[in-house]
Amino acid sequence: ATALPRDQRGRPLHDLRISVMDRCNFRCPYCMPETTYGEHFSFLRNDERLSFDEIERLCRLAAALGVSKLRLTGGEPLLRPHLAELVARLRGIPGITDLALTTNGVLLARHARELRDAGLDRVTVSLDTLDPALFHRMSGGRGALDDVMAGIEAARAADFPHGVKLNTVVQRGVNEHTVPDLVERFRGSGIVVRFIEYMDVGNRNDWSIEDVVPSQELIALIDARWPLRAVPPTYPGEVATRYRFLDGAGEIGMISSISQPFCGGCSRARLSSEGMLYTCLFATEGTDFRAALRGGASDEALTQRLREVWLGRNDRYSEERAERHGKKRHKIEMHYIGG
Ligand code: GTP
Ligand code: 5AD
Ligand code: SF4
Ligand code: SF4
Repeated sequence: ATALPRDQRGRPLHDLRISVMDRCNFRCPYCMPETTYGEHFSFLRNDERLSFDEIERLCRLAAALGVSKLRLTGGEPLLRPHLAELVARLRGIPGITDLALTTNGVLLARHARELRDAGLDRVTVSLDTLDPALFHRMSGGRGALDDVMAGIEAARAADFPHGVKLNTVVQRGVNEHTVPDLVERFRGSGIVVRFIEYMDVGNRNDWSIEDVVPSQELIALIDARWPLRAVPPTYPGEVATRYRFLDGAGEIGMISSISQPFCGGCSRARLSSEGMLYTCLFATEGTDFRAALRGGASDEALTQRLREVWLGRNDRYSEERAERHGKKRHKIEMHYIGG
């Protein structure tokens, strides 16, 4: 067998994130603002999205190239009909040691049990605030906090083998003041909250550095009330930096993609719902795998293409951000490739 591919910076391919649905039932202003994604926006047709057969096949080939972690994302992945069936198929792929889902949680209460039974290892729920009115506003007027809380509770009760995490995007002047509530509510619950620095993903949010609350600032704030200790990463290249509560109430994480970029250990590839493969969250161009899949390409040909894409990869967008001095580039939208 040939060696597992390493990219131009020596990084292996470990993690494949698959957007199974470009639609979402939320309209978070920083991701799918109503002004762009209104009634007239045209999403993909069903036959434009990769089928479960196509996704499974690519995942199998990617696993043979070193991928051990799969994450299903969206848009909102639970809008994809029969998602548990896909989970069961991916579970059967040799070499996959971590099978995860990122969701906004609204439909999770309905699906947690079947996802667990299908073999999903863990769930990550996006939750930006515990203030019901602010939550409603931050979802673009679509979401109810109670539904998401019920989803989180259902996920906890389903007892996923690798647990439940929450992702909180923090925006200056929007939800930063509700961070302590989130910490307090989930401390000691076994659920790990990760605070994410607001990023310049996609082209629709008019991001500015002033909107970012640096992780160090949050850590100082949290530590003053609930003393923390930094702990080492669970695996090399972990996205979040971990902190443990000194009183034993578990841990939190900080995802500092702006203040402390982590491109050096980035082993992630992203597959969009229509079968484009991207090697960076901030990519401008991808590689079309759907055409190859539907054009009758052999496993060998698809593997060769995957290998070539990875070998040619040189992305380090977050590290270059500072050098870019605000020069714009046309990036792929977040809801096409998930987080
Ligand atoms: P664990 O495996 O649970 O540690 O998490 P993960 O690395 O799979 O992280 P998750 O998918 O929960 O990502 C959380 C958030 O981190 C995403 O929603 C993004 O905002 C950010 N993020 C994840 N991966 C990347 C990445 O490769 N680059 C950048 N810049 N941000 C990322
Ligand atoms: N910056 C950081 N995180 C983001 N997400 C969406 N947009 C951004 C952004 N601009 C997060 C969502 C969710 C995950 C899929 O990505 O909140 O947790
Ligand atoms: Fe919000 Fe996630 Fe939906 Fe984007 S994909 S609109 S961040 S819930
Ligand atoms: Fe990886 Fe691109 Fe994120 Fe850097 S910016 S960590 S290369 S996805």
